[in-house]
Amino acid sequence: MKFFIKTYGCQMNERDSEAVGATFIKAGHLPVDKEDDADVLLFNTCSVRDAAERKAKGKIGYMRKLKQRKPELIIGVMGCMAQRLGDELLAELPHLDFVLGTGQIHRALETVTDIAAERKRFANVTVAPEEIDMLGEHGQNSWSAQIAITRGCNRFCSYCIVPYVRGREVSRSKDSILAEAGALVASGVKEILLLGQNVAAYGLNGDIRPPADGFSPFAELLEELNAIPGLERIRYTSPYVSYFNDRLIAALASCSKVCHNIHLPLQSGSDRILAAMNRQYTAQSYLEKVAELRAAIPDLTFSTDVIVGFPGEEESDFELTRNLMNEVGFEQAYIFKYSPRPGAKSATLADTVSEEEKLRRNNILLDDLQLRIGKKLASLVGSTQEVLCEGVSSRNESRWTGRTGTNFVVHFEPDASVRTGSLRQVKITRSGKVSLFGELC
Ligand code: SAH
Ligand code: SF4
Ligand code: F3S
Repeated sequence: MKFFIKTYGCQMNERDSEAVGATFIKAGHLPVDKEDDADVLLFNTCSVRDAAERKAKGKIGYMRKLKQRKPELIIGVMGCMAQRLGDELLAELPHLDFVLGTGQIHRALETVTDIAAERKRFANVTVAPEEIDMLGEHGQNSWSAQIAITRGCNRFCSYCIVPYVRGREVSRSKDSILAEAGALVASGVKEILLLGQNVAAYGLNGDIRPPADGFSPFAELLEELNAIPGLERIRYTSPYVSYFNDRLIAALASCSKVCHNIHLPLQSGSDRILAAMNRQYTAQSYLEKVAELRAAIPDLTFSTDVIVGFPGEEESDFELTRNLMNEVGFEQAYIFKYSPRPGAKSATLADTVSEEEKLRRNNILLDDLQLRIGKKLASLVGSTQEVLCEGVSSRNESRWTGRTGTNFVVHFEPDASVRTGSLRQVKITRSGKVSLFGELC
């Protein structure tokens, strides 16, 4: 059969889709890029904001026409929206064949095979966390690969649907992660991105208290990965700020392959809003952690997630967020307009900030970010950066693109010896709005 997978949402969903796709390919099925060419359509969905659900539903709804033309087409919905809505989706979208929850996606292949044999419709949203190691399958690897090290989340930030749709936090065994990493590196992978809702909680058995000083299973994992010969770079996303203890910070500073960039979700710079969000830190403690990390790793860069318009967010709260973002000087930021999620705690609070005001706050933070990025990039002109070469630039075929460990994109003229996945020194000659330009040394 020919199959098509469309993914919505975060990198963990991308990773799940890759694993599902790999199980289909292993069974002899062929991936295709166009819905029209497929016998099986799989939608791996996200529930994190209402817009994410609407987008997926719109797309899946549109597939009804295709199914009318091609009645044997199998259409399945997986992932977080599938988990949240289950049977409701089958009722709402009559052309759907199946709905598989987040704990069931490893059954996608057997489900499709069953349906192809005896047309039936069903939803299965049972949580089966013990099956997570089955998702170690990878597709056609290039120089970079992702490894999920934890699934689920136990933090229950009040606005967030993830703990409800992804279930309790479970860490994979270190042996299984190391075996997966070893196999990937043997196949030519140079960069590994570790994934989890809170990667720094790795190995804590779901305990929601950040680890005491001197103890960090995540640090131990990084150290063992750092020792894999042939691996060049290790990245990770996302860690929760309170989990950076002395042990983890020391490991980050001493592991030469761990990149000097942290995606450190802030959400808000107002202590009142942070408390209402059930985020277990204050603006001050967040700043202190950033300072501690910078003291250990001076060229560290930070990116973040921020929500504007959380219930009760006043202009003064927003100003605190804005000031804190400028103070930290985030090199990248993802700003989200608050979206009430049915089932999450904050959904019981009135959504007090208008859509218009959310957009205004959103745009102010984006403008600040653009200014900061421009200045930061300009400050790097004249420096020499180590760049992992990714391939031909998507914007200009005569150039190549790579990325610094600090996560800046660099465009440069290739030479005859440049290879995808190789590390090269690049002298930065000019900066643009969002990226750098340079010459190979
Ligand atoms: N586990 C990650 C976040 C996963 S969700 C972490 O805590 O670091 C990605 C981002 O979506 C969050 O950081 C948050 O900024 C945003 N988000 C989550 N729920 C949201 C909601 N209800 N409305 C708007 N943004 C939301
Ligand atoms: Fe959601 Fe908070 Fe868990 Fe991140 S840490 S997934 S924001 S509950
Ligand atoms: Fe969305 Fe699920 Fe990821 S809700 S952000 S796809 S964990």
